[in-house]
Amino acid sequence: MCGIVGYIGPRNVKDVVVGGLAKLEYRGYDSSGIAAIDDGRIELAKSVGRLSNLEARLEEHPIGGHVAIGHTRWATHGKPSDENAHPHQDCSGRFALVHNGIVENYLSLREELIASGHEFRSETDTEVVVHLIEELYNGDLFQTMIAVGKRIRGAYALVVISKDHPDQIVAVRKASPMIIGLGDGENFVASDIPAVLQYTRDIYVMEDGEMAVLTRDSVECFTLDGEPVAKEVYKVTWDAVSAERGGYPHFMLKEIHEQPKAIRDTLRGRVNPDLGSVTLDELGIDAETVKAMDRIHIVACGTSWHAGLVGKVAIEQLARIPVNVEIASEYRYSNPIATPNTLVIAITQSGETADTLAAMREMKARGLRVLAITNVVGSSAAREADNVIVTWAGPEIAVASTKAYTTQLAALYLLAVHFAQVRGEIGEQAAHDMINALDNLPQVAEAVLDTAPQIHAFAQKYAESKDTFFIGRGIDYAVSLEGALKLKEISYIHAEAYAAGELKHGTLALITEGVPVVAIAMQPDLYEKTVSNIVEVKARGAFVLGLTWVGNEDLAKTVDEVIYLPKTHPTLAPLAAVIPLQLLAYYAAVARGNDVDKPRNLAKSVTVE
Ligand code: M6R
Repeated sequence: MCGIVGYIGPRNVKDVVVGGLAKLEYRGYDSSGIAAIDDGRIELAKSVGRLSNLEARLEEHPIGGHVAIGHTRWATHGKPSDENAHPHQDCSGRFALVHNGIVENYLSLREELIASGHEFRSETDTEVVVHLIEELYNGDLFQTMIAVGKRIRGAYALVVISKDHPDQIVAVRKASPMIIGLGDGENFVASDIPAVLQYTRDIYVMEDGEMAVLTRDSVECFTLDGEPVAKEVYKVTWDAVSAERGGYPHFMLKEIHEQPKAIRDTLRGRVNPDLGSVTLDELGIDAETVKAMDRIHIVACGTSWHAGLVGKVAIEQLARIPVNVEIASEYRYSNPIATPNTLVIAITQSGETADTLAAMREMKARGLRVLAITNVVGSSAAREADNVIVTWAGPEIAVASTKAYTTQLAALYLLAVHFAQVRGEIGEQAAHDMINALDNLPQVAEAVLDTAPQIHAFAQKYAESKDTFFIGRGIDYAVSLEGALKLKEISYIHAEAYAAGELKHGTLALITEGVPVVAIAMQPDLYEKTVSNIVEVKARGAFVLGLTWVGNEDLAKTVDEVIYLPKTHPTLAPLAAVIPLQLLAYYAAVARGNDVDKPRNLAKSVTVE
């Protein structure tokens, strides 16, 4: 976790670094800080809490100079506090360092450094690195960082400045994301592209195990052993404005409303209703491999894992390949049973989730093919996977994932139909129906957004509830899980999702007078069974909001309120059903006065295991 920005050049360093950090706050916002070399000294300012606290501090004590580094923190080692905020400094105040990641051997290093006289000010793992720099410093910052790299274990993006070298920044990347922005007479380093987009579109994406030396006029890249590395410039084509709020009060609401476009962009050029086929040329998995595939393991975390649960149903129903869906942090350590013909699908919006990357690496090391479904083209997942499907959702800024989920579903549906067609598991008419339904998904999402006022009214009424339950059967249960996660994540209301038929095996005890239950009834085949379960909660006094397809007037006889959603193919229904659930979470969070885009204790991209 954490966001890093570094700058060397003629601009006001505070504006560049703090402005860049503002674009990275999604990576953590427990504290922030900046260090700049000003008049031969390192000036430091840091503050616990939001970036605005740091800005207020900088108003009182401005910082100048032409080289600076900054950091926004998501706490791992040590509570959020001024002392634990980055940048960290050595005893002599000669160096300042920012870090994203975890130094795994920090305790033994700390003992060693204390024994040789270093005094520590924070509880962080990071501080050992800056003392180690001081300890190993030989007058050459670059060479010192090579030596430091050999002593530390773990994941890190490190950026260091020294008052002895006021004309350079040294950056090191091992397993934590880092990019370099190339300017004219100025250069930038950051955890992610939005931090530098205002100034440059020419980027070096740092690979795992690379380091760089930045001056105003040059950027040189090396391996961690100091061997020169030739880099290609990646030209950013996406629009900086698309990463802004665009008139909505919160990024989350903007991103919910962007879903029709995001789905359309993800399907574009990949569904051919006229030909009745799916085109996934970029996939790069040949027909023989698809036919030989005997199982699929989907690995992911959080919302992406929920997308995987829907994907499982789609792939099993259409392509008849058995699918396991695994939580990435569990999968890696579970010694999973795989055959040589197992395909691992890693789903990750950011492409930087440490748990998912670790699972991918583990399975790649075992010789398995790994396909990444990701929203970030240059991400670690995209670069490390054998095959990639990009979701074209555009940058997702709100911590609560919305358009990433629906575009992941779109990608998984495409994959399911493609596999089904290659393996001859789907007839011509069924394929045609499915492809037409897929092609219509952007319009479905558009129509679902019209339910917003009704959801808003419901959320106002139930925003003070202590608990909420989400129920559904089959693929509706998979989407219930996502509804419950969204509500918990941003409204802080306790929420549980249940396979509707499972309630009577225990959870029914929690249903009392007035408890809100959201019942998803989008599967005609399972409809009557679902209604029986709704009757069970109604009998215990629950207030039930039902979701069903337009034209199904029957549900209104059982539930208290109905949201009608456009009818689509039942397998695709989660894409429609999830949108009211996202809106419910959003409006409940707003009604409770929560910080919707930056919920407590969470960060957008979880780059620690
Ligand atoms: O970037 P990823 O898709 O790998 O992220 C995985 C989860 O951390 C993420 O989906 C998280 O659960 C969301 N905040 C949920 O809204």
